[in-house]
Order: sequence, then C-alpha cells, then structure tokens
Amino acid sequence: MPENEEKGFGEAFQKRLAAASREKVRIVVKDQYKDAWDILTDCENANLIPGIIGPPGVGKTLLLRAYAEKTNRLFQWVTGDEGVRPAHLIGSFNPALVLTKGFTLDSFEPGPLLKAMVFGGVFGLNEGNRLPEYVQNTLLEPFEEFTVNVQRLGRIKAHDGFFPVLTMNPEEMAGAHRLSEAFRDRIRVWIRLGYPNKETELEIIRVNCPEYKLSDSVLDSVYSLVSASRVSPDIELPASIRAGISIARLSAQMATRDNNGEVTHKILSDSATSVLIGALRFRPGIDAEPAVSALVRTVLGKKGAES
Ligand SMILES: Nc1ncnc2c1ncn2[C@@H]1O[C@H](COP(=O)(O)OP(=O)(O)OP(=O)(O)O)[C@@H](O)[C@H]1O
Ligand SMILES: [Mg+2]
Repeated sequence: MPENEEKGFGEAFQKRLAAASREKVRIVVKDQYKDAWDILTDCENANLIPGIIGPPGVGKTLLLRAYAEKTNRLFQWVTGDEGVRPAHLIGSFNPALVLTKGFTLDSFEPGPLLKAMVFGGVFGLNEGNRLPEYVQNTLLEPFEEFTVNVQRLGRIKAHDGFFPVLTMNPEEMAGAHRLSEAFRDRIRVWIRLGYPNKETELEIIRVNCPEYKLSDSVLDSVYSLVSASRVSPDIELPASIRAGISIARLSAQMATRDNNGEVTHKILSDSATSVLIGALRFRPGIDAEPAVSALVRTVLGKKGAES
C-alpha cells in the first residue's frame, strides 16, 4: 500500500477518468451493422423508439455506443434485473446532502435515464424484459411523452437529443419477466442482429486483435470453430463474437510466448478448448468437456488432436 494512499488514489483515479474519455469505439459498420445503423437513424428521425434483438455478444451495446459517439452525445445504459428500482434509472436524493441542503437539486444525484433526458443522450436499456413490471411502468412516460416526473423537483421534458433504445436477447434466452404489453407497445420498430457473415466477423476479430498478426488460415479456423457451434444441434447457446475474439487473441499470445508468433494446430486447439469450455451451453444431459473436445477435433481435424 502506498503511504499517501488517498492522494495516490485520487491522482490515479483522475488519470483513469481521462483515459476513459479518450477511448474511441472500434467498430465494424458493415452488412447487418450498417443496416441496423441506418434503421436507428431512421427511427430517431421519425421519433420511433427501436428495440434491438440479438443473442449475447453480437454487438448491440457497441452499436449504440458508437451511434452515440458518432452523433457526439452522451451514452448511458442500464441492464435490467430484479434488483433495479426506479431510483436507479431516475436518480435519488443523497440523504447526507438533504440534511444540509434540503430536497433541492443540489442534493439530487441523477440516474442514467434522467441524465440522458437532460443532456440529450442515447439511453440503452439492456434486457428491459428482466425489469420488474412496476419498474417497466416507470418507463412508460419517458418512452411515450419524453417527459418524466422527478419527485419533489418536478416534471421535465427531455432534450431533443434524447434517444431511448431497448436491447435484448431473444425471448427464449431471457429472464423471468417479459415485457409488459404497455411497454412493448412503446417499442415501435424491432431491429434484429444475428451472427455476422464470415467476412464481417473476421474483420471484427481483426479489429479486436490490433496488436497481433493473425494469418488468414488461423482466422479461418477460428471462424470455422465458432460457426460450427452455431449449427450444432447439441448446443443451446453457441459461441459469440467475443468467443471468436478470445480464441484468436489467446492463440496469438500463446504463439508469441512459445513459437515465435506462429500459431500451430496444437496452440489453436488448446486455446479453443480453453475458451469454448465456458462459452458454450450444451443441451441438458450433454457433458461439456468431451463435447467441446469433439467439436474442436472435428473442426480442426485430426492434426489438432495429435500435434
Ligand atoms: N460490429 C462490431 N465491430 C467491432 N467489434 C464488435 C462488433 N460487434 C461486436 N464486437 C465485439 O464483440 C463484443 C461484444 O459486443 P457487445 O457487448 O456490444 O454485445 P451485446 O450484443 O451487447 O452483448 P450482450 O447481449 O452480452 O450485452 C464487443 O466488445 C466487441 O469486442
Ligand atoms: Mg450488451
């Protein structure tokens, strides 16, 4: 522990704040992402609230973040679960400040929805279907009238730049609560994002491995692995884009350590196994370890198992 821990932490924290604000989104906007981007723009211009539906890790959040960045707006988001309360969306009074300042704006700490409404930001609501119904009800007014009532402070009208978007996984993978009919009715346009085509997915992997040189044949094998998991009848939840990126990065790193940067079959097979063992969900009754080994062996061929 540093002696002047508090001072040290403060400085380090400021540096981290600055680093976050410098960070630019790296995104491939092609094919389905280009289509989704265009529809988002159309929805915004037509004052329609869109919902983006797609399996985990296809780039729903990234697309929104990039959209907000491109249009120079704040990006705020919340992920729905049982524990989210209206105050987590709108904000709440800080009790300590209320003691000295009373129930004034100075003692109010705004939540992400209110910030997006006040500053005119993009508001991503992930998994809105997992929010308890009474919390979904809190969103009815902001998502219809673009107004919200902040207790004790009054009702505000959102800035013109406020753009709420729902993102969720397809319903069969979703949590206990479904979207309430009233809330669903406010989502006017549904945008589907699936797994990208091969060319786009390989470009996404490349963009996410900027520090490594990956040959076309290694990238091809990574794509074969993830795409095989997406058509296997034994697999309920296949490899996401994240899994492909992880296999590529881990292989490249293992090769850098052990083999002058050259990715062998064994390296690829080991890294794929390490990633996929936790990335896939098999149908009940199927033992993950042998199933992953079989998948990797089949896709990479015998060489992978032997070398
Ligand atoms: N179009 C893209 N361009 C570049 N990288 C991408 C793209 N799509 C996905 N990725 C990569 O995949 C990762 C997952 O994307 P993201 O977090 O946006 O997925 P998601 O659909 O919001 O997933 P979840 O349902 O788990 O929230 C990103 O961090 C990024 O590395
Ligand atoms: Mg997300």
